[in-house]
Amino acid sequence: MAQELLATVRRMRTRVRTRRFIINWLICCALVAATSELPRLQAAPDAPAAQSSGPVTDLSLPTVPDLNPDPRILEINLTAEVARVEVSPGRRVDAWTYNGTLPGPLIRLTVGDRLIVHFTNRLPSPTTVHWHGLRLPIQMDGVPGASQPQVETGGTFTYDFVVPDAGLYWYHPHVMSAAQVGFGLYGAFLVDDPSETFKVAEERVLVLSDIDLTEQGGLEDPETGGSTGMAFGREGNTLLLNGRNHPRVSMRSGVTQRWRVVNAAKSRFFNLDPGVGIRFTKIGDDGGLQEYSEELESLVLAPGERADVFYTPTAKPGTEYGVHAYLFDRGFGSVEARQSEDLFEIVMADTPAVTPQPHPRVTRAIEAISQTGATPVAIEFGIDQKEDKSFYYTINGKPLADIPPLKAAVGETQIWKVTNTTPWSHPIHLHGFFFQVLDKDGRPRRPLKWKDTVSVPLKDSVTLVVRFDDRPGSWMYHCHVLDHAEGGLMSAVQLSRPGEPAPPLPSEHTHPASP
Ligand code: C2O
Ligand code: CU
Ligand code: CU
Repeated sequence: MAQELLATVRRMRTRVRTRRFIINWLICCALVAATSELPRLQAAPDAPAAQSSGPVTDLSLPTVPDLNPDPRILEINLTAEVARVEVSPGRRVDAWTYNGTLPGPLIRLTVGDRLIVHFTNRLPSPTTVHWHGLRLPIQMDGVPGASQPQVETGGTFTYDFVVPDAGLYWYHPHVMSAAQVGFGLYGAFLVDDPSETFKVAEERVLVLSDIDLTEQGGLEDPETGGSTGMAFGREGNTLLLNGRNHPRVSMRSGVTQRWRVVNAAKSRFFNLDPGVGIRFTKIGDDGGLQEYSEELESLVLAPGERADVFYTPTAKPGTEYGVHAYLFDRGFGSVEARQSEDLFEIVMADTPAVTPQPHPRVTRAIEAISQTGATPVAIEFGIDQKEDKSFYYTINGKPLADIPPLKAAVGETQIWKVTNTTPWSHPIHLHGFFFQVLDKDGRPRRPLKWKDTVSVPLKDSVTLVVRFDDRPGSWMYHCHVLDHAEGGLMSAVQLSRPGEPAPPLPSEHTHPASP
């Protein structure tokens, strides 16, 4: 480990020319120094064997009773509370949960339905619920200051909104998010489209995440590694699929499944291998179905991203194989001296194989956002050090407390060029709106997709186009590696109607008063 780190440092030293390289070099040194405090950067010594032998599970997610007789209204109670959950046979942890389960219940409704959530906070800390990806009014966005006051311990809040778009979304807190999401607070949110014409035999919602457990089986300190841990983005040492570590799942050979996948991990990117001779057919992204499908040899999801894929296992009945989570290079420390492992095992049912049918052809007419009259916006993610050598992230050179909010007028289209000068990748997420990603020539990337989260790779840039509709408010944008957000990669777009005062800013962090 140390040798590899030093080799990297040496390699970087020969290239030290600009300030940026010096900063890289300092980060590497700090990482070398801090390695002993940073178990997350090493292969977990107690990493379970890739092959697991627990019972076979069906991976179904918990549901939540509907209190409302109206078929177009889902009315539920949702309580954030500490509860004991079992991540693998005999391994229990007191996690932070919604309704006592990890992940929280699957919230499932049909596009156009109304959701009413009676939320209660029984955690030892304030919290809120944010509905990631949903195009809601700002009052329902779960951001303290911009949407609502934070919900104190023992407090309640009612969320009430209509779900505007089909697709897989998710919910999580927006107060101390790195700690709270890391402790287990997240759930999937599925909006069905009744006009969908294709059908597959089996459908699963897969919530990918991880949790950081101590050797004694408790929750690891979310501040471990200090500012170096923050700069990297702390990952959990225990992979979870629907709240279970290395589960075994039964499938029938030749039977096509539709997987709705969300990466709810606070920092980890997932890179899933479908298994020998199999590919994923990806039909949808963050905001529902995409223009046309893509055949993928592996499925990469940054924190916050979703995918809608067909998967047809074809292995021999009675056999078993792993869906491997390869390490993904999101920057220094993410692949060095670590081991990859299976996310879960597929157990082929002992029933005769079915002849696989070709996957249904799924398309969706999506219009490219018009760039006529669009305002260019430059956003640069950087990293710097204080006098005491601790790291902090910057947006356009400014630390968190000094980042001015972006401004937008309702109806305006903006083209954001997001440049990442740091040695780590940053999945940028915008609240409340979908965007489209542009290629290096400014043309929309095909197939067209609605995105709310996209990774800006290390030392690279991403350009996206977004049209702000008539929902004034301060909409956050931030890196979804949640440590990075809290370390400085978060701010907001103040969206207002002409002639009206600018909406209030998020209070979770300090923005300078708007002019
Ligand atoms: Cu999942 Cu502020 O977002
Ligand atoms: Cu969000
Ligand atoms: Cu980041």
